[in-house]
Amino acid sequence: MKRSDFLKTLGLGALGTLFASGRALGAQRSGSMPKGNFKGARAPISIGTWPFAEHTTRASLEAMQKGANALDAVELGVKICEADPRERSVGLGGRPDRDGRVTLDACIMDHLGNIGAVAACEQVVHVSSLARAVMEHTPHVMLVGDGATQFAREQGFPMQNLLVPDSEAEWKKWLEKSEYKAIPNIENHDTIGQLTLDAQGRLAGCCTTSGMAFKMHGRVGDSPIIGAGLYVDGEVGAATATGQGEEVIRTVGSFRVVAAMKSGKSPQQACEDAVHEIHKFFVRRGKPWADTQIGFIAMDVQGYVGGYALRPGFSYAVASVDGVQVLRAESLFDA
Ligand code: GLY
Repeated sequence: MKRSDFLKTLGLGALGTLFASGRALGAQRSGSMPKGNFKGARAPISIGTWPFAEHTTRASLEAMQKGANALDAVELGVKICEADPRERSVGLGGRPDRDGRVTLDACIMDHLGNIGAVAACEQVVHVSSLARAVMEHTPHVMLVGDGATQFAREQGFPMQNLLVPDSEAEWKKWLEKSEYKAIPNIENHDTIGQLTLDAQGRLAGCCTTSGMAFKMHGRVGDSPIIGAGLYVDGEVGAATATGQGEEVIRTVGSFRVVAAMKSGKSPQQACEDAVHEIHKFFVRRGKPWADTQIGFIAMDVQGYVGGYALRPGFSYAVASVDGVQVLRAESLFDA
C-alpha cells in the first residue's frame, strides 16, 4: 500500500497535527518532565504498535478509566486484535508458515516481573491469555509448540482453525515461487506490542504475533521472548518491539530500551539508542539492512512515551486523557 493510501485508510484529516513525530513528542514531554516521584502522573495511558493499536489502546484506556489494572487492560486490548480475522499478522487470520500452519507467539509481563510466554502455538486465538495462564498457573515462564497447545486445551481454551481463506490464498500464491526472505513491513503492521500504565502507576505489557509470514515451521521471533519483544521494569518503564524479530533478539532490544531509560534516557532517546545499536550490529556483521524494518515503543513510569524505527513507515497509537492519536515514528533512515 502506498503511503498516501495508507493514511487515507486511517480516515485522518489533519495529518500534519495528528502525525506529530515521535521525536517531537518525546522531546516536548521530556523537556517538561517533572522531577521527583510522579509515578503514574499521566496515567492511565496505553500505547501500542501500528495503527491497529488505535482501537486496542482505546479499549485498554477505557478499561483502566473504569478501574481495571494495567495487566487486565493490556490483555483486553490485544485480544481485540487477536480475534480480528482481517489482521494478517496477529491471532486469527495470521499468515501461515511455509507449511501452511498458523503458529502464534506471545508474551506478557507485569510491573512486578511476573512473566509468561508461548511460542509456535497452534489452534489458539488468544495466545496473550495463554501466556498469562502460563504465568499464573504453571511453575514455568514459557511453553512451546504442542506443549503450549496441550496446556491451552487443559485450561479450557477453545481450539480452532486459525487459517482464514484470504491468508490461505496468500500462502498458495507464495508457494508458486516459495521465495524465502524477510519482507520489510514499511507501512504495514506486524506484531502488536502494547504497554499500559494504570492509575496506580502499575505498568504491564503484552506482545502477540503470528510472526514472519511463510516462516520455516518452528521459527520463533522476538515477540514471545522476554527482553527481546517486550520488557517491563515496574520502577522504570516498559518497551516493546516490532519488525524483524531475529535482529531484536540479537540485541535484546526491549531490555536495552528499558536499561537506557533506567540510566536516565527519555523513552524517545532510549528507543533511538536501541535502533542505532541494531544498525551497528548490521554494520559490524557486514550484513545489509535495506530489507529490514524494526521499531520500538516505550513508556516510562510517569507516562512519557517514545517510538523510533530503522526505516520510515512505522507508527504507533497513544491513548490517554488527551484522546487517541496515531503517531508516525521518526526513523534512522529516510527510505
Ligand atoms: N516481530 C515479530 C517476529 O519477528 O516474529
